[in-house]
Amino acid sequence: MTSPVRRSAAPVLLVLLLVFSSSVSAWKKEEFRSCKQTPFCKRARTRAPHSLPPFSVSDVSLSDGSVSGRLVPSPSIRQVTDEDPSADAAVDDTAQRPLLFRLSVYHGGILRLEIDEDPSSAPTPKRRFRLPDVLLPDLEDRRLWLPRLSSPSGVAATSFYLADGFEGILRHDPFEIVVRRTGSEGEPVLSFNSHGLFDYEQLRAKKEGEDWEENFRSHTDSRPHGPQSISFDVSFHGANFVYGIPEHASPSLSLRPTRGSGVDESEPYRLFNLDVFEYLHDSPFGIYGSIPFMLSHGTRSTSGFFWLNAAEMQIDVLAPGWDDSAAPNAGRVDTFWMSEAGVVDAFFFVGPGPKDVLKQYASVTGTPAMPQEFAVAYHQCRWNYRDEEDVAAVDAAFDEHDIPYDVLWLDIEHTDGKRYFTWDRTLFPHPEEMQKKLAAKGRHMVTIVDPHIKRDDSFHVHKEATEKGYYVKDASGKDFDGWCWPGSSSYSDMLNPEIREWWADKFSYKNYVGSTASLYIWNDMNEPSVFNGPEVTMPRDAIHHGEVEHRELHNAYGYYFHMATANGLVKRGNGKDRPFVLSRAFFAGSQRYGAIWTGDNSADWDHLRVSVPMILNLGLTGMSFSGADVGGFFGNPEVDLLVRWYQLGAYYPFFRAHAHHDTKRREPWLFGEENTALMREAIHIRYSLLPYYYTLFREAATSGIPIMRPLWLEFPADKETYDNSEAFMVGSSLLVQGVYEKNQKSVSVYLPSGASWFNLRNGVKYDGGVLLKLDASEDSIPSFQRAGTIIPRKDRFRRSSTQMVNDPYTLVIALNGSLAAEGELYIDDGKSYDFEKGAYIHRRFIFANNKLTSIDIRPSTAGEKKFSSDCTIERIILLGLPSGAKKAVVAPGNHEMNIELGPLTLRKGSKPIALTIRKPNIRVADDWSVRIF
Ligand code: NOJ
Repeated sequence: MTSPVRRSAAPVLLVLLLVFSSSVSAWKKEEFRSCKQTPFCKRARTRAPHSLPPFSVSDVSLSDGSVSGRLVPSPSIRQVTDEDPSADAAVDDTAQRPLLFRLSVYHGGILRLEIDEDPSSAPTPKRRFRLPDVLLPDLEDRRLWLPRLSSPSGVAATSFYLADGFEGILRHDPFEIVVRRTGSEGEPVLSFNSHGLFDYEQLRAKKEGEDWEENFRSHTDSRPHGPQSISFDVSFHGANFVYGIPEHASPSLSLRPTRGSGVDESEPYRLFNLDVFEYLHDSPFGIYGSIPFMLSHGTRSTSGFFWLNAAEMQIDVLAPGWDDSAAPNAGRVDTFWMSEAGVVDAFFFVGPGPKDVLKQYASVTGTPAMPQEFAVAYHQCRWNYRDEEDVAAVDAAFDEHDIPYDVLWLDIEHTDGKRYFTWDRTLFPHPEEMQKKLAAKGRHMVTIVDPHIKRDDSFHVHKEATEKGYYVKDASGKDFDGWCWPGSSSYSDMLNPEIREWWADKFSYKNYVGSTASLYIWNDMNEPSVFNGPEVTMPRDAIHHGEVEHRELHNAYGYYFHMATANGLVKRGNGKDRPFVLSRAFFAGSQRYGAIWTGDNSADWDHLRVSVPMILNLGLTGMSFSGADVGGFFGNPEVDLLVRWYQLGAYYPFFRAHAHHDTKRREPWLFGEENTALMREAIHIRYSLLPYYYTLFREAATSGIPIMRPLWLEFPADKETYDNSEAFMVGSSLLVQGVYEKNQKSVSVYLPSGASWFNLRNGVKYDGGVLLKLDASEDSIPSFQRAGTIIPRKDRFRRSSTQMVNDPYTLVIALNGSLAAEGELYIDDGKSYDFEKGAYIHRRFIFANNKLTSIDIRPSTAGEKKFSSDCTIERIILLGLPSGAKKAVVAPGNHEMNIELGPLTLRKGSKPIALTIRKPNIRVADDWSVRIF
């Protein structure tokens, strides 16, 4: 949210308040519902373990290779009332109906649990909503056909194969699911309903005199279908910590407990996509996006749990001893999940390693899309670059100051009255020419397209949407009308595939007048943000395609909008140009459509710090292409904060500077030459690492392993890493530690055990497993290359990444104790989908026995198309090679060259000196070797 204005319908007042918006600050707690103000949450949260009458399992059978049956509620289930959760209200007959369940096993260690009402005994025509379009279409092909069920002796239960070394156990009475290791110990990994907190409010007919309405502030939710919430407990066994379920701001990488002994009054983690004005840097409160996927990690196990449900969700992480303070659970993390609506469609991922869990999740919701290479470079944004002159001046200043950048962004003010797909022709009379000028330097432009459509009959998009009936409806059936940037606005119904197609067509060059092939898109406000709506969003009783209520779909609205926009760009380029769309709202699966950022952060040190755990948790839950506004969106950063932010942001997967319109200009050359040099240096580091980043994007796109990783993902056995929220890995080779305080004189860096590390500032080698204390240098933040790795770089600086395409590479080899190292390089055309047909280069560099070898790892099955490159390797830098090595022989050709001393980087005045092989003149695409003497 960018303005405190909420309920004003008067444009004059809106303008006045906007003018003063910078003086009004701080999160407006009262605008948002707490758990206690949310009946389903309040109700569920008051329950003690095993206090609910239990469900038992009946009619278990194998049907189509899955386990199915009924969950029969105990006869004593009573309907509780919203007002008094403990009230012993009248027995509700409809709540006695058995539920249907299905347990399916998918290839690779995945168990799926679905629980829905039995349609044959439904008392109302309404079916519960199951969110389509998130699970990969081929998931069903990967379902294992279970041949048989077994009955473990001694208990009423059914067991079935899950993966090698794992089995699923369905306990019958009371109902419980346990995923465990096979073998005599039967060590549990995950369990569901072990604390008897499973509850499922079934749809029912309204009783005489019953009132289902809910009120919050001035808003009334008609709740025509009444209570329909679901809640249950999930335990992660063998776990020390849990992570994930973004999006929350917190300085802690792990999810801290929200309930139980030792926890002060806390809200649960809320998943409800909201436009939160000046969000707090430490709060379980939900912000712009929601991914109901939690991972656990510990010395004994790594596992994951994903609940596919787009309604409001609240999740408690329970402190040890929450259920029994006399016997606090050790080595287990219990959690409690609550949702307002939908069904149970949940996935258990067995690991056993951290990367296995990420791959399992990616095999269900997809891997991140491979971006265009320019999108991996630096982006310059501000609300707003005023006009064409401003754009030209900023563009020219980057060149004058020798700072590369790839993308210039235009915020809402570039439009004609916030009618997206239009231009304010006074400020931007020649949009095509403007884009072409940028494109001539290899640069791109991004414009903003928000989901609110101005209700103006002369605006063609509104006219068409109205005529075609494409808007979301309010509870009375009229086009929903809410207040956003343009004033009165409506929102196209992105749940409907036909409407998504219509939206996608809006991005054609013909429809988006003034757009060119170098223009890409930013989707903002897609939670959706509705200034005068309840909690600044769309009312829950608004109606979508197929009579789906907004409450059932809310968290996925932005996902669909992002999807439709990305598909629009694919269509625009005839399926040949990879889209770039940045979205603020997101849901599980959004990684398939583009990047996201952490919204409106503030220009303070706390927000700098929380950016790291936020981005790490996003990466763990699939959204690896993410970043935070460099510099902080609200407020004016002091220059040392801005510099530190560039130094950290240069490692974010998505690297963009952005600022609110009330802030002072802060392009990197505005703070004196010394500071310009520091910011230039930070941006240069990113540009030199682009080959490494692009290779990591490829890894993410094929495996789901994120670019920016918590240390424990690479060092799962090192306990010291489990809750390190300050440092992170970029890929598996680079460790970066942020500097998060003003005037920080020294910085402590934990270097994980099991590896040695080379400080990239001075080439010094350190052993792992130690907490290092280093002087905090102002010219960079600490970064280390792990011994045993090879990082590809491009060290010549140009105006943009596109202009670096033909530049030669540098390989930085950090040798381990056995004088060995390995690394990879992936290259394609950076733009098209030809890589899907095999048009790419993928090399592995191996250093062993004093020889560096480049081998082709592109599989022969990759496809017919080839990609070629004439790029060469201009330098090979060797860290950790014992002195004495003097010569290198390059094969083929057998030409001999000297090993010299050379700088670690090509930056001016660069001090650290390392052994270097200059100009080996080998082509990056070829097989070759370099032997060292
Ligand atoms: C809110 C977004 O979060 C912010 O980045 C943007 O500048 C404003 N909307 C205006 O479009």
